[in-house]
Amino acid sequence: MNSVKKITDKIYWIGGSDRRLQRFENIFPIPEGVSYNSYFIDDEKTAVFDTADVTIADQYIENLKQALGGRSLDYLVVLHMEPDHCAQIDKVTALFPEVTVVASKQAFVFMEQFFPQAKDFKKIEVKEGDTLSTGEHTFSFVAAPMVHWPEVLFAYDAVDKALLSADAFGTFGALDGGIFADEYDFERDFLDSARRYYSNIVGKYGAQVQAVLKKAQGLDIQMILPLHGPVWRKDLEVLLGKYQKWSTYESEQDGVIVVYGSLYGHTASAAEAVASSLRDKGAKDVRVIDVSGTDVSYIISEIWRVGKIVLMCPTYNGGLYPPMENLLSDMAALSVQNRVFALAQNGTWAPATGKLMSDRLSNLKNVTVLENILTFKSALHAKDEEALNNFTDAIINA
Ligand code: FEO
Repeated sequence: MNSVKKITDKIYWIGGSDRRLQRFENIFPIPEGVSYNSYFIDDEKTAVFDTADVTIADQYIENLKQALGGRSLDYLVVLHMEPDHCAQIDKVTALFPEVTVVASKQAFVFMEQFFPQAKDFKKIEVKEGDTLSTGEHTFSFVAAPMVHWPEVLFAYDAVDKALLSADAFGTFGALDGGIFADEYDFERDFLDSARRYYSNIVGKYGAQVQAVLKKAQGLDIQMILPLHGPVWRKDLEVLLGKYQKWSTYESEQDGVIVVYGSLYGHTASAAEAVASSLRDKGAKDVRVIDVSGTDVSYIISEIWRVGKIVLMCPTYNGGLYPPMENLLSDMAALSVQNRVFALAQNGTWAPATGKLMSDRLSNLKNVTVLENILTFKSALHAKDEEALNNFTDAIINA
Protein backbone atom coordinates (compact mmCIF):
# COMPACT_ATOMS: atom_id res chain seq x y z
CA MET A 1 0.00 0.00 0.00
CA ASN A 2 1.36 3.41 -0.87
CA SER A 3 2.06 5.88 1.94
CA VAL A 4 2.26 9.15 -0.01
CA LYS A 5 1.60 12.26 2.10
CA LYS A 6 0.66 15.68 0.81
CA ILE A 7 2.82 18.48 2.22
CA THR A 8 1.77 21.46 0.11
CA ASP A 9 -0.21 21.92 -3.05
CA LYS A 10 2.61 20.58 -5.16
CA ILE A 11 5.01 18.88 -2.75
CA TYR A 12 4.45 15.31 -1.59
CA TRP A 13 6.38 13.03 0.76
CA ILE A 14 7.10 9.69 -0.89
CA GLY A 15 9.57 8.26 1.65
CA GLY A 16 9.18 5.42 4.08
CA SER A 17 10.05 4.22 7.54
CA ASP A 18 12.23 1.27 8.48
CA ARG A 19 11.49 -0.43 11.79
CA ARG A 20 13.61 -3.52 11.14
CA LEU A 21 17.09 -2.04 10.74
CA GLN A 22 19.02 -2.68 13.94
CA ARG A 23 21.78 -0.13 13.46
CA PHE A 24 21.93 3.02 11.34
CA GLU A 25 25.22 3.06 9.38
CA ASN A 26 25.64 -0.37 11.00
CA ILE A 27 26.79 1.52 14.11
CA PHE A 28 23.98 3.36 15.87
CA PRO A 29 21.16 1.34 17.45
CA ILE A 30 17.79 2.60 16.28
CA PRO A 31 15.12 0.84 18.34
CA GLU A 32 12.88 3.77 17.40
CA GLY A 33 13.38 3.07 13.67
CA VAL A 34 14.22 5.69 11.07
CA SER A 35 12.49 7.37 8.15
CA TYR A 36 14.02 8.09 4.78
CA ASN A 37 12.33 11.10 3.27
CA SER A 38 12.00 11.75 -0.42
CA TYR A 39 9.98 14.59 -1.88
CA PHE A 40 7.96 14.60 -5.09
CA ILE A 41 7.14 17.81 -6.93
CA ASP A 42 3.92 17.60 -8.91
CA ASP A 43 4.40 20.65 -11.12
CA GLU A 44 4.42 21.26 -14.88
CA LYS A 45 7.54 19.15 -14.73
CA THR A 46 7.79 16.31 -12.23
CA ALA A 47 10.73 16.10 -9.89
CA VAL A 48 11.96 13.94 -7.05
CA PHE A 49 14.37 15.22 -4.42
CA ASP A 50 16.56 12.30 -3.30
CA THR A 51 15.59 8.63 -3.22
CA ALA A 52 15.73 6.39 -0.15
CA ASP A 53 17.59 3.53 1.46
CA VAL A 54 17.60 0.12 -0.19
CA THR A 55 15.81 -1.36 2.85
CA ILE A 56 12.55 0.37 1.86
CA ALA A 57 12.95 -0.06 -1.90
CA ASP A 58 9.58 -1.67 -2.59
CA GLN A 59 7.67 0.92 -0.56
CA TYR A 60 9.60 3.73 -2.14
CA ILE A 61 9.01 2.69 -5.73
CA GLU A 62 5.32 2.09 -4.99
CA ASN A 63 5.07 5.59 -3.52
CA LEU A 64 6.90 7.12 -6.47
CA LYS A 65 4.60 5.46 -9.00
CA GLN A 66 1.54 6.48 -7.01
CA ALA A 67 2.71 10.10 -6.86
CA LEU A 68 3.44 10.18 -10.56
CA GLY A 69 -0.02 8.83 -11.41
CA GLY A 70 1.17 7.64 -14.80
CA ARG A 71 3.26 10.72 -15.63
CA SER A 72 6.95 10.31 -16.39
CA LEU A 73 9.68 11.67 -14.14
CA ASP A 74 11.47 14.73 -15.51
CA TYR A 75 14.05 15.47 -12.79
CA LEU A 76 15.77 13.45 -10.11
CA VAL A 77 17.52 15.94 -7.83
CA VAL A 78 20.22 14.47 -5.62
CA LEU A 79 21.03 16.71 -2.68
CA HIS A 80 23.04 14.06 -0.80
CA MET A 81 24.88 11.02 -2.12
CA GLU A 82 25.03 8.94 1.05
CA PRO A 83 23.46 5.55 0.31
CA ASP A 84 20.64 5.96 2.83
CA HIS A 85 19.27 8.46 0.29
CA CYS A 86 20.86 7.59 -3.03
CA ALA A 87 20.50 3.81 -2.98
CA GLN A 88 17.66 3.79 -5.46
CA ILE A 89 19.09 6.06 -8.10
CA ASP A 90 19.71 2.98 -10.23
CA LYS A 91 16.11 1.80 -9.92
CA VAL A 92 14.62 5.23 -10.59
CA THR A 93 16.81 5.89 -13.62
CA ALA A 94 16.09 2.40 -14.95
CA LEU A 95 12.34 3.03 -14.62
CA PHE A 96 12.62 6.49 -16.22
CA PRO A 97 15.59 6.41 -18.62
CA GLU A 98 14.77 9.90 -19.90
CA VAL A 99 14.99 11.50 -16.44
CA THR A 100 17.50 14.32 -15.99
CA VAL A 101 19.59 13.94 -12.86
CA VAL A 102 20.40 17.20 -11.07
CA ALA A 103 23.23 17.33 -8.53
CA SER A 104 26.42 19.11 -7.51
CA LYS A 105 29.69 18.45 -9.29
CA GLN A 106 31.01 16.39 -6.40
CA ALA A 107 27.73 14.49 -6.09
CA PHE A 108 28.14 13.37 -9.72
CA VAL A 109 31.66 12.15 -8.91
CA PHE A 110 30.30 10.12 -5.99
CA MET A 111 27.39 8.94 -8.15
CA GLU A 112 29.71 7.36 -10.69
CA GLN A 113 31.65 5.72 -7.87
CA PHE A 114 28.48 4.07 -6.58
CA PHE A 115 26.76 3.68 -9.96
CA PRO A 116 29.18 3.55 -12.92
CA GLN A 117 26.20 3.84 -15.28
CA ALA A 118 25.75 7.42 -14.02
CA LYS A 119 28.29 8.57 -16.62
CA ASP A 120 25.54 8.09 -19.22
CA PHE A 121 22.77 9.84 -17.29
CA LYS A 122 21.22 13.03 -18.64
CA LYS A 123 22.64 15.54 -16.20
CA ILE A 124 22.40 19.10 -14.99
CA GLU A 125 25.24 20.11 -12.68
CA VAL A 126 24.27 22.79 -10.16
CA LYS A 127 26.04 24.83 -7.52
CA GLU A 128 25.14 27.45 -4.96
CA GLY A 129 22.96 30.14 -6.49
CA ASP A 130 21.79 28.02 -9.43
CA THR A 131 18.09 27.35 -9.86
CA LEU A 132 15.86 24.63 -11.24
CA SER A 133 12.36 25.52 -12.41
CA THR A 134 9.62 22.90 -12.48
CA GLY A 135 6.99 25.37 -13.70
CA GLU A 136 5.24 27.15 -10.87
CA HIS A 137 8.12 26.37 -8.49
CA THR A 138 11.74 27.34 -8.77
CA PHE A 139 14.30 25.75 -6.49
CA SER A 140 17.45 27.65 -5.54
CA PHE A 141 20.44 25.64 -4.46
CA VAL A 142 22.49 26.41 -1.36
CA ALA A 143 25.83 24.68 -0.75
CA ALA A 144 25.97 22.88 2.60
CA PRO A 145 29.40 21.22 2.57
CA MET A 146 30.00 18.67 5.36
CA VAL A 147 26.40 18.74 6.50
CA HIS A 148 27.03 15.94 6.44
CA TRP A 149 29.14 15.05 3.38
CA PRO A 150 31.05 17.48 1.16
CA GLU A 151 28.75 17.33 -1.87
CA VAL A 152 25.59 18.32 -0.02
CA LEU A 153 23.20 20.94 -1.35
CA PHE A 154 20.07 22.37 0.22
CA ALA A 155 17.25 23.54 -2.04
CA TYR A 156 14.91 26.44 -1.33
CA ASP A 157 11.49 26.89 -2.88
CA ALA A 158 10.33 30.50 -2.62
CA VAL A 159 6.71 29.61 -3.50
CA ASP A 160 6.12 27.41 -0.46
CA LYS A 161 9.02 29.04 1.43
CA ALA A 162 10.31 25.52 1.96
CA LEU A 163 13.90 24.52 2.65
CA LEU A 164 14.84 21.00 1.60
CA SER A 165 17.61 20.58 4.12
CA ALA A 166 19.22 17.18 3.38
CA ASP A 167 20.43 15.57 6.64
CA ALA A 168 20.19 18.83 8.60
CA PHE A 169 17.22 19.02 10.96
CA GLY A 170 16.72 15.27 10.62
CA THR A 171 16.17 12.77 13.37
CA PHE A 172 16.19 9.07 14.04
CA GLY A 173 12.74 7.63 14.60
CA ALA A 174 10.19 6.09 12.28
CA LEU A 175 7.16 8.21 11.41
CA ASP A 176 3.90 7.05 12.94
CA GLY A 177 1.56 8.03 10.14
CA GLY A 178 2.06 11.78 10.46
CA ILE A 179 4.53 13.71 8.35
CA PHE A 180 4.50 17.00 10.27
CA ALA A 181 6.38 17.65 13.51
CA ASP A 182 3.31 19.43 14.88
CA GLU A 183 1.34 16.19 14.60
CA TYR A 184 3.55 14.81 17.37
CA ASP A 185 4.64 15.82 20.84
CA PHE A 186 8.09 16.48 19.40
CA GLU A 187 9.80 16.88 22.75
CA ARG A 188 8.40 13.58 23.98
CA ASP A 189 8.56 11.59 20.75
CA PHE A 190 11.60 12.89 18.87
CA LEU A 191 13.83 15.31 20.78
CA ASP A 192 16.17 12.69 22.27
CA SER A 193 16.41 10.95 18.89
CA ALA A 194 17.03 14.27 17.14
CA ARG A 195 19.84 15.11 19.54
CA ARG A 196 21.36 11.64 19.23
CA TYR A 197 21.14 11.90 15.45
CA TYR A 198 22.66 15.38 15.38
CA SER A 199 25.46 14.74 17.86
CA ASN A 200 26.58 11.43 16.37
CA ILE A 201 26.06 12.10 12.66
CA VAL A 202 26.64 15.84 12.25
CA GLY A 203 28.14 16.77 15.63
CA LYS A 204 31.69 17.03 14.35
CA TYR A 205 30.66 19.67 11.83
CA GLY A 206 29.36 22.44 14.09
CA ALA A 207 31.22 25.16 12.17
CA GLN A 208 29.76 24.00 8.87
CA VAL A 209 26.26 23.87 10.37
CA GLN A 210 26.77 27.40 11.67
CA ALA A 211 27.87 28.56 8.21
CA VAL A 212 24.76 27.19 6.55
CA LEU A 213 22.48 28.48 9.32
CA LYS A 214 23.86 31.96 8.63
CA LYS A 215 23.10 31.57 4.94
CA ALA A 216 19.58 30.40 5.80
CA GLN A 217 18.96 33.60 7.77
CA GLY A 218 18.67 35.39 4.44
CA LEU A 219 15.77 33.19 3.33
CA ASP A 220 12.13 33.41 4.39
CA ILE A 221 11.80 29.81 5.58
CA GLN A 222 8.34 28.66 6.63
CA MET A 223 8.92 24.93 6.17
CA ILE A 224 11.86 22.60 6.69
CA LEU A 225 11.89 19.32 4.78
CA PRO A 226 14.74 17.11 6.05
CA LEU A 227 15.79 13.70 4.78
CA HIS A 228 14.93 11.98 8.08
CA GLY A 229 12.10 12.53 10.52
CA PRO A 230 9.14 14.88 10.41
CA VAL A 231 8.66 17.98 8.29
CA TRP A 232 8.47 21.33 10.08
CA ARG A 233 5.74 23.83 9.19
CA LYS A 234 5.16 25.38 12.64
CA ASP A 235 7.32 26.53 15.52
CA LEU A 236 10.49 26.32 13.44
CA GLU A 237 12.27 28.32 16.11
CA VAL A 238 12.13 25.27 18.40
CA LEU A 239 14.36 23.20 16.14
CA LEU A 240 16.44 26.15 14.94
CA GLY A 241 17.09 27.02 18.59
CA LYS A 242 18.28 23.48 19.29
CA TYR A 243 20.54 23.55 16.23
CA GLN A 244 21.98 26.86 17.31
CA LYS A 245 22.98 25.35 20.65
CA TRP A 246 24.09 21.99 19.33
CA SER A 247 26.24 23.46 16.56
CA THR A 248 27.95 25.93 18.89
CA TYR A 249 28.54 23.20 21.50
CA GLU A 250 26.53 25.15 24.04
CA SER A 251 24.95 22.82 26.56
CA GLU A 252 21.21 22.52 26.18
CA GLN A 253 20.37 21.95 29.84
CA ASP A 254 22.04 22.60 33.17
CA GLY A 255 22.66 18.96 34.02
CA VAL A 256 25.36 16.54 35.11
CA ILE A 257 25.97 13.05 33.80
CA VAL A 258 28.00 10.57 35.81
CA VAL A 259 29.51 8.01 33.44
CA TYR A 260 31.24 5.08 35.06
CA GLY A 261 33.02 1.90 34.11
CA SER A 262 32.90 -0.88 36.66
CA LEU A 263 34.06 -4.50 36.55
CA TYR A 264 32.50 -5.73 39.77
CA GLY A 265 30.28 -2.90 40.99
CA HIS A 266 32.65 -0.89 43.17
CA THR A 267 33.10 2.05 40.81
CA ALA A 268 29.37 1.79 40.10
CA SER A 269 28.69 2.18 43.82
CA ALA A 270 30.97 5.21 43.93
CA ALA A 271 29.13 6.70 40.95
CA GLU A 272 25.82 6.36 42.79
CA ALA A 273 27.39 8.10 45.78
CA VAL A 274 28.61 10.96 43.56
CA ALA A 275 25.14 11.36 42.04
CA SER A 276 23.49 11.27 45.45
CA SER A 277 25.89 13.88 46.81
CA LEU A 278 25.27 16.14 43.78
CA ARG A 279 21.51 15.88 44.35
CA ASP A 280 21.94 16.63 48.04
CA LYS A 281 23.78 19.79 47.03
CA GLY A 282 20.96 20.97 44.80
CA ALA A 283 21.76 19.56 41.34
CA LYS A 284 18.38 19.03 39.67
CA ASP A 285 19.33 17.05 36.60
CA VAL A 286 21.74 14.20 37.33
CA ARG A 287 21.93 11.00 35.32
CA VAL A 288 24.11 7.97 36.08
CA ILE A 289 25.26 5.98 33.05
CA ASP A 290 27.06 2.62 32.90
CA VAL A 291 29.55 3.01 30.07
CA SER A 292 29.51 -0.76 29.50
CA GLY A 293 25.75 -1.12 29.29
CA THR A 294 24.93 1.95 27.24
CA ASP A 295 25.66 2.29 23.57
CA VAL A 296 28.16 5.11 23.17
CA SER A 297 25.83 7.04 20.84
CA TYR A 298 23.43 7.64 23.74
CA ILE A 299 26.28 8.90 25.96
CA ILE A 300 27.46 11.24 23.20
CA SER A 301 23.92 12.58 22.97
CA GLU A 302 23.85 13.20 26.72
CA ILE A 303 27.20 14.98 26.47
CA TRP A 304 25.62 17.33 23.93
CA ARG A 305 22.69 17.90 26.31
CA VAL A 306 24.46 18.78 29.56
CA GLY A 307 27.36 20.99 30.56
CA LYS A 308 29.09 18.84 33.17
CA ILE A 309 30.39 15.32 32.73
CA VAL A 310 31.83 13.09 35.45
CA LEU A 311 33.97 10.22 34.20
CA MET A 312 34.77 7.47 36.69
CA CYS A 313 37.15 4.82 35.43
CA PRO A 314 39.03 1.84 36.85
CA THR A 315 42.51 0.90 35.71
CA TYR A 316 42.48 -1.95 33.22
CA ASN A 317 45.64 -3.62 31.92
CA GLY A 318 47.49 -0.62 33.26
CA GLY A 319 45.36 1.72 31.15
CA LEU A 320 41.80 2.84 30.62
CA TYR A 321 38.81 0.55 30.98
CA PRO A 322 38.13 -0.21 27.29
CA PRO A 323 34.49 1.04 27.07
CA MET A 324 35.62 4.34 28.66
CA GLU A 325 38.50 4.55 26.20
CA ASN A 326 35.99 4.04 23.40
CA LEU A 327 33.86 6.89 24.74
CA LEU A 328 36.90 9.19 24.92
CA SER A 329 37.85 8.27 21.35
CA ASP A 330 34.33 9.02 20.15
CA MET A 331 34.35 12.36 21.96
CA ALA A 332 37.57 13.29 20.18
CA ALA A 333 36.28 12.09 16.81
CA LEU A 334 33.15 14.20 17.22
CA SER A 335 35.06 17.27 18.45
CA VAL A 336 33.24 17.63 21.76
CA GLN A 337 33.82 21.18 23.00
CA ASN A 338 32.95 23.59 25.73
CA ARG A 339 32.29 21.20 28.61
CA VAL A 340 33.40 20.74 32.23
CA PHE A 341 34.81 17.34 33.16
CA ALA A 342 35.34 15.86 36.60
CA LEU A 343 37.39 12.68 36.84
CA ALA A 344 37.50 9.79 39.29
CA GLN A 345 39.95 6.92 39.23
CA ASN A 346 39.81 3.53 40.87
CA GLY A 347 42.48 0.84 41.00
CA THR A 348 43.17 -1.92 43.45
CA TRP A 349 46.93 -1.39 43.24
CA ALA A 350 47.48 1.34 40.64
CA PRO A 351 44.76 3.98 40.18
CA ALA A 352 46.06 5.68 37.03
CA THR A 353 43.16 6.65 34.83
CA GLY A 354 42.79 10.25 36.03
CA LYS A 355 45.87 11.40 34.16
CA LEU A 356 45.14 9.16 31.20
CA MET A 357 41.64 10.63 30.84
CA SER A 358 42.90 14.16 31.47
CA ASP A 359 45.52 13.77 28.74
CA ARG A 360 42.88 12.63 26.28
CA LEU A 361 40.52 15.44 27.20
CA SER A 362 43.26 18.05 26.87
CA ASN A 363 43.04 17.60 23.09
CA LEU A 364 39.45 18.87 23.07
CA LYS A 365 38.67 22.55 22.52
CA ASN A 366 37.56 24.77 25.35
CA VAL A 367 37.07 22.08 27.97
CA THR A 368 37.78 22.44 31.66
CA VAL A 369 39.07 19.41 33.55
CA LEU A 370 38.63 19.95 37.27
CA GLU A 371 41.88 19.59 39.18
CA ASN A 372 40.34 17.65 42.02
CA ILE A 373 40.51 14.02 40.86
CA LEU A 374 38.69 11.59 43.14
CA THR A 375 40.99 8.65 43.79
CA PHE A 376 40.09 5.46 45.61
CA LYS A 377 41.50 1.96 45.87
CA SER A 378 39.11 -0.90 45.15
CA ALA A 379 36.06 0.76 46.67
CA LEU A 380 34.84 4.01 48.13
CA HIS A 381 34.20 3.84 51.89
CA ALA A 382 32.90 6.07 54.69
CA LYS A 383 36.47 7.23 55.32
CA ASP A 384 36.42 8.80 51.86
CA GLU A 385 33.45 11.03 52.66
CA GLU A 386 35.47 14.21 52.84
CA ALA A 387 37.14 13.49 49.52
CA LEU A 388 33.75 12.75 47.99
CA ASN A 389 32.37 16.00 49.38
CA ASN A 390 35.25 18.03 48.00
CA PHE A 391 34.84 16.33 44.64
CA THR A 392 31.13 17.09 44.33
CA ASP A 393 31.60 20.64 45.71
CA ALA A 394 34.00 21.31 42.86
CA ILE A 395 31.47 19.99 40.32
CA ILE A 396 28.65 22.08 41.76
CA ASN A 397 30.82 25.20 41.80
CA ALA A 398 32.30 24.75 38.33
FE1 FEO B 1 21.00 10.52 6.00
FE2 FEO B 1 24.26 11.64 5.56
O1 FEO B 1 22.74 10.56 5.22
